[in-house]
Amino acid sequence: MLSKAMEKALNEQLNFELYSSYLYMSMASALEDMNYKGAAHWMRIQMLEELFHANKFFNYIIDREGRVILQEIKKPKNDWKSMLDAFEDAHKHEKIVTSRICDMVDLALTEKDHVTNSTLQWFVTEQIEEESNGKTIIEKIKRTKKSEDGLMIIDTELATRVLSPMANITTAIATPA
Ligand code: FEO
Repeated sequence: MLSKAMEKALNEQLNFELYSSYLYMSMASALEDMNYKGAAHWMRIQMLEELFHANKFFNYIIDREGRVILQEIKKPKNDWKSMLDAFEDAHKHEKIVTSRICDMVDLALTEKDHVTNSTLQWFVTEQIEEESNGKTIIEKIKRTKKSEDGLMIIDTELATRVLSPMANITTAIATPA
């Protein structure tokens, strides 16, 4: 059974994961507008991963006899001035996610809620990859020194991203066991 404080925190994070998905969809749209098809594809995959994260929170709350209460999803930013600008914002966003997950771990430990802590550890590990992916792409973009040829090579590389097997659509919509 979840405490009221933990149920609220989990619901808020579910909402934030949905907002994350919405934000990456918005970035995909902006990158399409810049004609960076590969970068837009990368953001679409990220959008789906965030839906998977949201669904993990959804299932966990239900598994623990909590109640999911959906709230409004904040309007995302819509304009980025370059591929670098979008990926820098994505990276900043992931740092915020990491900080939020760590705050939830703090709450779980304070409450001696070891079950929730164990579930949150999956997200802690996931955030290592989430931050590292963004950082790597930012470094590559910076190395092009704004050369359009260099950016197109990165764009082609970003087009190869595939959805992580963990986040495939079947898993994303699966109901709790
Ligand atoms: Fe769900 Fe990108 O953190």
